[in-house]
Amino acid sequence: MANRPLGGADAVDLAAPERSSRSDPTTAEQLASTVSDELAKSLEELRELARGIHPAVLEHGLAAALNALATRSTVPTTVSYEASGRLPDPVELAAYFVTSEALANVTKYARASTATVRVRRNGRGAVIEIADDGVGGADDARGSGLRGLADRVGALDGTLGVVSPRGAGTIVRAEMPCPAPRELEPVEQLGFERVPQA
Ligand SMILES: Nc1ncnc2c1ncn2[C@@H]1O[C@H](COP(=O)(O)OP(=O)(O)OP(=O)(O)O)[C@@H](O)[C@H]1O
Ligand SMILES: [Mg+2]
Repeated sequence: MANRPLGGADAVDLAAPERSSRSDPTTAEQLASTVSDELAKSLEELRELARGIHPAVLEHGLAAALNALATRSTVPTTVSYEASGRLPDPVELAAYFVTSEALANVTKYARASTATVRVRRNGRGAVIEIADDGVGGADDARGSGLRGLADRVGALDGTLGVVSPRGAGTIVRAEMPCPAPRELEPVEQLGFERVPQA
């Protein structure tokens, strides 16, 4: 009895190039190239997915998310959240990624005894600073982490600065524009009348 295909699946057939490699090398080469294109596409989709994932921990606010990062860090880290109210979602997300990468760098390179994370507002927007008391000498030309952060913060019209003199620790500072928290509205604007004082 002749062999018959069992089904008509259109999925990428990873074994196809190998099957035809001896009998028909040209077809095998084309099949291998298709498989490689499909795999590259899948990888890119996975990367996009990973970039877009919103850390669930941010649902409880940036302060809680940063505390979670600090708790996970192997270098004792304190968080000081001095910004009143929530920051806009994209700013909180960027602040989270800046802190995550900066603390990963502290663990990997700083040989620090402590680190701090500080979030505050100034006249222009939100400022996030991650500082350590380690060896310093951070250099964004040696990796892609700090440059990636600069791109992410830059996309929000913000700036990323790194101060890292040798032997004197490192400060990673991101500043991102964001509106001031809304002032409480006067009672009149909410439709109430002011009760005259006796
Ligand atoms: N807190 C730090 N203390 C001392 N050195 C640092 C610190 N942060 C970064 N560095 C140095 O700066 C370099 C660049 O850091 P960056 O995060 O850009 O890249 P990376 O960590 O080497 O690689 P990647 O982040 O792409 O995995 C590091 O390789 C390290 O030598
Ligand atoms: Mg890094």
